[in-house]
Amino acid sequence: MYRTHTCGSLRAENVNQTVTLAGWVQKVRNLGAMTFIDLRDRYGITQIVVEEHSDEATRAAAAELGREYVLQVTGKVIEREAKNPKMPTGDIEVAASEIKILNRAQTPPFTIEEHSDGGDDLRMKYRYLDLRRPPLQRAMILRHRMAHAVRTFLDGEGFLEIETPYLIKSTPEGARDFVVPSRMNPNQFYALPQSPQTLKQLLMVAGYDRYFQIVRCFRDEDLRADRQPEFTQIDCEMSFVEQEDVIEVFERMMRYMFKEIIGVEIAEKLPRMAWIDAMEKYGSDKPDLRFGMEIHEISDLVKGHGFSVFEDAEYIGAIAAEGCASYTRKQIDELTEFVKRPQVGAKGLVWIRLDADGGIKSSIDKFYSADDLRAVAERCGAKAGDLVLVICGAKFKALGQLCDLRLEMGERLGLRDRAKFAPLWVVDFPMFEWDEETQRFYAMHHPFTSPKPEDVQYLESDPARVRANAYDFVCNGTEVGGGSIRIHDQQLQSLIFKCLGFTPEKAEEQFGFLMNAFRYGAPPHGGLAFGFDRMCSLFGGADSIRDYIAFPKNNAGRDVMLDAPSAIDKAQLDELFLDLKRVE
Ligand code: AMO
Repeated sequence: MYRTHTCGSLRAENVNQTVTLAGWVQKVRNLGAMTFIDLRDRYGITQIVVEEHSDEATRAAAAELGREYVLQVTGKVIEREAKNPKMPTGDIEVAASEIKILNRAQTPPFTIEEHSDGGDDLRMKYRYLDLRRPPLQRAMILRHRMAHAVRTFLDGEGFLEIETPYLIKSTPEGARDFVVPSRMNPNQFYALPQSPQTLKQLLMVAGYDRYFQIVRCFRDEDLRADRQPEFTQIDCEMSFVEQEDVIEVFERMMRYMFKEIIGVEIAEKLPRMAWIDAMEKYGSDKPDLRFGMEIHEISDLVKGHGFSVFEDAEYIGAIAAEGCASYTRKQIDELTEFVKRPQVGAKGLVWIRLDADGGIKSSIDKFYSADDLRAVAERCGAKAGDLVLVICGAKFKALGQLCDLRLEMGERLGLRDRAKFAPLWVVDFPMFEWDEETQRFYAMHHPFTSPKPEDVQYLESDPARVRANAYDFVCNGTEVGGGSIRIHDQQLQSLIFKCLGFTPEKAEEQFGFLMNAFRYGAPPHGGLAFGFDRMCSLFGGADSIRDYIAFPKNNAGRDVMLDAPSAIDKAQLDELFLDLKRVE
């Protein structure tokens, strides 16, 4: 046995016991007569003391130690003279009678402590060292506890965990597929699943009416803080259900998770918001409801006054930032720069200041009287001391920019408190999304989502008007999960493929397997998938999902530790019948 206890487990009641610990050297302090060693494992840190009267071999071993050496230490637990109330093991120390060096270590490239001195790139390269740090250990433990809780809950509800293959046929769901060449089937490729969407639907046809899986998904898309090329979903599907049934089960699951994992009680019945309301009030289909500062359209109030920027705009909207009338010229310039950044993309920013003394000033004083400006302020619910910020442009673009600005102001005003949670369901999504570039409609969720029965009549005449039986679970401005009631009727599915621009032949080639299955008695079904990594970062209070993934990719989609992706040799290419094209 390498150890009798972990480095986090010894307390005052263990005093006088002889114990053996194993772990890594966090720190060595040599005080001449005595040497103190902080020994660390993932359970904690225990202070080891090597005393003056310790035997020669023990003192010699202690003298040699460096950071991250791996040790086995045997000794007696003694009460500390100077207790450390900040450490769970702070009442005791272990007086070493034997130190065995199990392995030596090079000096690590950064400090392995709560707050490391290593930059992002370095810590990614040596991820196995970064994972020794307490914040990452806490993240991995949180993730484990969450997976466990999900399984406990869903098992209790009668869901079966069923695995689906990773080498599948490409399913168009918005992002690009990662593909894998097949050696046994020359010039043919598997696709890695963007999600097990069609497979879980086939499981419903097969009669497994409550399915779930904690499953890896792969999407070749541009990365952000909340996106990884491979990420994990809690993927679920149910048969003989309507939207309400799905929402009911998963609202309960989320309530259970919040309570179980972070001790937070969320409302018995979560708010629901129609997609169009979310867009018009918050400029986003994933509104952050931790704070108000709603967007208000002011087009009717400000048009017709000769201010050409507004005259030419399709939409003019505003938000009121509480207590920001005191913003200096410089601060307002900063905000203007913020909205003009390419990521936000606004042309400019108009402001109206409601001074505490009742005065009103704005960047458009030339065109508007004080009363005109007051009407705008009133529409936005602004009062003395507030700053109204206005953006105009094409409706949904301007709304998106107002959303960015609202979130920025929320951040500046400290309204995006990580300890606060504002979950909701966003419902009534449009079925289709128009893409200017390719001049065609795309499925907003995915092509298997059913339209609202009352909107089916518009499928061919006015597709933009059709709403879907789709729903997203949103919390604090993040889309944590999403799903829909599916189409289970082969004819309706064919019609949707047609609306999406598939010829019958192309639909058959891509989705023949699903359409075929629907001919053999498909039950009504629906489901959803939660982004597990996002759920972890939400519960853990972090900005990035990376911290909750043991071995994540960087922003360029690279694993810098493994150095992947990387070239493969000629023999491997030949085996796969592949030739490479020169990169221009
Ligand atoms: P969707 O594409 O909305 O739905 O994905 C479901 C959830 O997965 C998470 N997610 C991601 N997390 C990290 N990195 C990514 N690149 C990434 N992409 C998505 C989000 C999202 O809400 N098959 C459907 C679900 C269904 O209809 O049942 C699907 O995959 O949290």
